[in-house]
Amino acid sequence: MDLSDLPQHIGFVGAGNMASAIIGGLLDAGVSADRLCAADPSAAAREKLESQGIALVTAQPAKQFARADLIILAVKPQFMADATASLAPNLGPDCVVMSVAAGISTPSLKTLLSRPSLPVVRCMPNTPALVRAGASGLFASDEVSDEQRRGVEAVMRVVGTARWLTSESHIDIVTAVSGSGPAYFFAFMEAMIAAGERLGLDHETAHQLTLQTALGAATLAEQGGEPIDELRRNVTSPGGTTERALASFEDGNLSALVDGAMQACLDRAREMAEEFG
Ligand SMILES: NC(=O)c1ccc[n+]([C@@H]2O[C@H](COP(=O)([O-])OP(=O)(O)OC[C@H]3O[C@@H](n4cnc5c(N)ncnc54)[C@H](OP(=O)(O)O)[C@@H]3O)[C@@H](O)[C@H]2O)c1
Repeated sequence: MDLSDLPQHIGFVGAGNMASAIIGGLLDAGVSADRLCAADPSAAAREKLESQGIALVTAQPAKQFARADLIILAVKPQFMADATASLAPNLGPDCVVMSVAAGISTPSLKTLLSRPSLPVVRCMPNTPALVRAGASGLFASDEVSDEQRRGVEAVMRVVGTARWLTSESHIDIVTAVSGSGPAYFFAFMEAMIAAGERLGLDHETAHQLTLQTALGAATLAEQGGEPIDELRRNVTSPGGTTERALASFEDGNLSALVDGAMQACLDRAREMAEEFG
């Protein structure tokens, strides 16, 4: 990652979980707190920002936000109208705005901010960003320059990996894959821990072995250089124990179950997009 691509001044509107993850990543990467400003109505959120030395911390975006090259909107979708109303008069002329909120389209963001040709990026991050292991999908409106793209990407790379999407509709698919994805793996791990206990292990042993197996499998898939299906075959000896377990998954039609769950997630993301415009 090239930190020189990072925008010089970055503003945050909403400083909850997701903004905190990004701010923490930027500070850990060596970005000076002088380059950051943030607005959040929550006193607790502002106290945390002040303790991190953030240059300007306010309840609502203030006129100094106009110097930000990038503003990150990190509020819940239902608060986006309020957040954009207070940001609009304080937006600099060359600013790119990135929203991490689900369901609010780039045309809606331009309308909310009263700037028809505003460069806008939508980002779908996920919670592992809190430990710098996030996965984000990014979509840029036509107005976003190459330099702004590099800047946005550099910001999201401080908290994990980031991929550009060619269509805004793919943001909802990213929600179904990686946005909600951590919960799928958590649910699978919970089921494995419960089964390990039912079979006779104590909770702590089942918990630790399950977590390390998930981490080890993901690390091997990332670093092993072999395709995932090959890695699966490598641990599946003919007539052996793993083969019996995988056959049981097949009997339960695991692939169809996953496919149905992700379709349900996508459908809900589209419904929410209609609700929030
Ligand atoms: N967390 C995730 O995994 C994840 C993943 C993908 C996308 N997202 C999206 O990221 C966005 C933020 O999520 P989050 O988990 O960080 O939410 P969060 O922890 O609730 O943070 C949002 C913050 O924004 C503040 N806020 C509310 N209205 C505001 C306004 N008008 N101006 C400025 N700040 C305002 C809230 O203050 P109060 O608490 O006082 O209301 C809160 O501190 C959401 O749209 C969510 O859909 C989150």
